[in-house]
Amino acid sequence: MSGNEARDRYAVIGNPVGHSKSPFIHGRFAAQTGEPVDYGHLLAPVDAFVPHVRAFIEAGGRGLNVTVPFKLDAHAFATTLSPRAAAAGAVNTLRVDADGGIYGDNTDGFGLVRDIEVNLGVPLKGARILLLGAGGAARGVVLPMLDRAPHTLTIVNRTAEKAEALVAQFAQAASDAHCRLAGGSARAIEAGQYDVIVNATAGSLDASLPECDDRAFGTGTLAYDMMYGAHPTVFMTHAAGLGARGADGLGMLVEQAAESFYVWRGVRPDGAPVLAELRALLSAPSPA
Ligand code: ATR
Repeated sequence: MSGNEARDRYAVIGNPVGHSKSPFIHGRFAAQTGEPVDYGHLLAPVDAFVPHVRAFIEAGGRGLNVTVPFKLDAHAFATTLSPRAAAAGAVNTLRVDADGGIYGDNTDGFGLVRDIEVNLGVPLKGARILLLGAGGAARGVVLPMLDRAPHTLTIVNRTAEKAEALVAQFAQAASDAHCRLAGGSARAIEAGQYDVIVNATAGSLDASLPECDDRAFGTGTLAYDMMYGAHPTVFMTHAAGLGARGADGLGMLVEQAAESFYVWRGVRPDGAPVLAELRALLSAPSPA
């Protein structure tokens, strides 16, 4: 028997979605674990998330990854939310449960933490972390980072009030983790070098650099950009010029996928070989 009829159906839903690397990643995870997973992509009009998800579920779909612009729609659609999805205010993973319930989770922050700690070998426990940005991407990673009990988490944003709002939202979680959580404008940050600086702004999309004190970067700093591409981002290049080690968000992409796979299947795939393969594909010259 080789047909897909014996396989459980999953997909990534987005708009656009044709460029998504998730079908490749989950195809590799299925092969690696032997799980009977069939994973495709689902393009939905921006105003028609719910009917497309319902049709997918009616056709036997078991779960979805959710990407731009539907993470808030998915949050609203879920009947149960994980604590990290509730904190993020956004859902990137939907699971259809046997009782018909729709479980919403958010694996983005976990993926970031795992990439930093496991793939890049930088422990976050006791670390001084600087988070640049206070939009949806930043909000989604705060709780998973606090779960690692860093020494300090400083959040800065072009619009300082949004960073202050995140600090207020996560004050209790920070206190529980014995982490010093602070934030505001880039000019108000605590002086000195950080162990990890995460760029969660959308700046890399248009090659702009978020405001940040150069003295925050040093040779002991990991400068992590949540964006990725064939070449280092402006943020990574800037950080390298200040002696820091740069990393892009490709590993986060793979590790959030691995965690979604775990949420669906209860089996945790190994992200590292898939990341290596994806990196090689990304760096290869594109065909003329
Ligand atoms: P996302 O879901 O990708 O986080 P978002 O919620 O729109 O998208 O948030 C975008 C983030 O990138 C915000 O922190 C934004 O700063 P503001 O809150 O001040 O708008 C930040 N951002 C976008 N472009 C930027 C730029 N050129 N320089 C600095 N920050 C930028």
